[in-house]
Amino acid sequence: MGRTLYAVANWKMNLRADQSAELAGQLADFSKSLNKAQVWIAPAAVNIPAVTYATESSGIKIGSQNVHWDKNGAYTGEISVEMLRHLNCSFAIVGHSERRRLFLESNELTAKRAVGALQQTFKVIFCVGENLSQRKSGETLAVLQAQLDPLLEASREFDTSGLLIAYEPVWAIGTGKVASIGEIEEAHAAIIDYWQNKANALPPPVLYGGSVKPDNVADILSVAEVSGTLVGGASLNFDSFKDIILAHEKLSC
Ligand code: 13P
Repeated sequence: MGRTLYAVANWKMNLRADQSAELAGQLADFSKSLNKAQVWIAPAAVNIPAVTYATESSGIKIGSQNVHWDKNGAYTGEISVEMLRHLNCSFAIVGHSERRRLFLESNELTAKRAVGALQQTFKVIFCVGENLSQRKSGETLAVLQAQLDPLLEASREFDTSGLLIAYEPVWAIGTGKVASIGEIEEAHAAIIDYWQNKANALPPPVLYGGSVKPDNVADILSVAEVSGTLVGGASLNFDSFKDIILAHEKLSC
């Protein structure tokens, strides 16, 4: 069976529309040489039109950094699947630790967003991950399970083929402190096992995120349970994200 690897850029609250379009255009040109790796980009919501225009017919998928579960309504500041689809977006990141930590989005709210989007056949990258004190006190697997539980409980209500999970240990995000290969292996295997047992279904691809850089990406992708990476800082620069994508291309088969 082939191995499809996803290189996903999360640009967070960085880059203006002109800067986003320029970087996306460079990535679109470069991605024409790819055969196997999947390149996805999540720009800031206001920059989505500029980025979809710059990547037209390149094979790069564009998505948002969050999404609401409902089709429309009185939800100030939120974005619906229909709005995103109309702009040629095909996925959303949901439950990023910055949403959970800084905007107090709970496990239940996060699952609600994901379920709503998946029911509208939108792709979702569902983020999970423990913080440093949880890791230190040995709670990592319990935290991951608690984050997955409300999504698993609803897993019969949507087609899981649109779902990807991203394991992003909070202490590795933006810190330059990447998780060790052993820690990545353990967490990914635990997520996959838990999903298989609880949902009694094939597990979704599990991406790793947290200080992914050109010089550590090949090691991370060498872990069989890793199906790609979710990249913050290093995706904001063409040369570094290009090198990261190339590692995905090399190791896809
Ligand atoms: P960094 O790659 O900057 O550590 O960010 C990771 C991340 O949060 C991706 O969603």
